[in-house]
Amino acid sequence: MTKCIVITGASSGIGQALAISFANSGYDVVAIGQNEINLQKIKSFISNGNVITICADLSEENGIDKVAQNLALQNGVQFLIHCAAISKPYKSLMDILTIELKQIINVNVMTPILLTQKLAPYFDETTRVLFIGSDYVGIDKKIRPYVTGAYGISKSALRVAVEYFRREYDKALIGYLNPGTTDTPMYQSMVTAINQQGIFNHQGQIASPRDIAEFIQGVLEKTCNQDYKFIDWDYREIMHHQLIERSSVRAKL
Ligand SMILES: NC(=O)c1ccc[n+]([C@@H]2O[C@H](COP(=O)([O-])OP(=O)(O)OC[C@H]3O[C@@H](n4cnc5c(N)ncnc54)[C@H](OP(=O)(O)O)[C@@H]3O)[C@@H](O)[C@H]2O)c1
Repeated sequence: MTKCIVITGASSGIGQALAISFANSGYDVVAIGQNEINLQKIKSFISNGNVITICADLSEENGIDKVAQNLALQNGVQFLIHCAAISKPYKSLMDILTIELKQIINVNVMTPILLTQKLAPYFDETTRVLFIGSDYVGIDKKIRPYVTGAYGISKSALRVAVEYFRREYDKALIGYLNPGTTDTPMYQSMVTAINQQGIFNHQGQIASPRDIAEFIQGVLEKTCNQDYKFIDWDYREIMHHQLIERSSVRAKL
């Protein structure tokens, strides 16, 4: 009986590319998002595997409950990948409204924590949970634009949450990965907003969601437990690609 791959944020960007990639590799995928039309698009890109879509607002308790109810029909969770996040509205902390700040913290911090709790009955010691991080963690005075404070705070809090999960919870393997700049609707909206402030000067590489999905799949499928748990995976680190490559060569020997 095969366990499933659960992906949040699967209606767009990196999450959608991951759902397509895992399904085409023959996995049973549970794809979660809010936009049903975009979730259904996944099916037109797959030639293999099985995709169940769940349309749910994960910032609401009943959204998380809906996912748990669907999971009861599966044979356990092999990978849980927390991709869902929001970065809008782009406002300074002095201007952001209570409701807007709460929603960013809700979706980016509380949802991955509460969904992990709720799905824990479907984990075993080989389950890998992956939290998707960001460069907007901590304080880097050089590159931080000034309208992404709420997003930065939420991603910083998520990074700390990962550390607590790693120390407090040993019934699944907890991982963390930063994709770096990726060409998705979130990135495009951020660039537009920041450009309007006249302060954006991104100079690094911009990856495609497909390349990031391939990297994430490699980290989840091929790395040994010790590497998976202790490395903060980053798509831009050449050594991390080499580690995945070496792990897959070792597995074939
Ligand atoms: N793109 C980048 O450059 C970049 C860089 C570093 C880190 N990241 C991280 O990578 C992850 C994926 O980002 P992305 O660029 O692929 O973003 P994206 O294209 O905007 O996708 C975000 C996803 O989150 C879902 N979502 C938002 N609010 C939700 C809610 N309340 N309930 C359920 N689902 C919700 C969206 O669903 P709907 O569209 O259906 O609402 C969408 O599927 C995020 O954690 C982001 O912080 C991205």
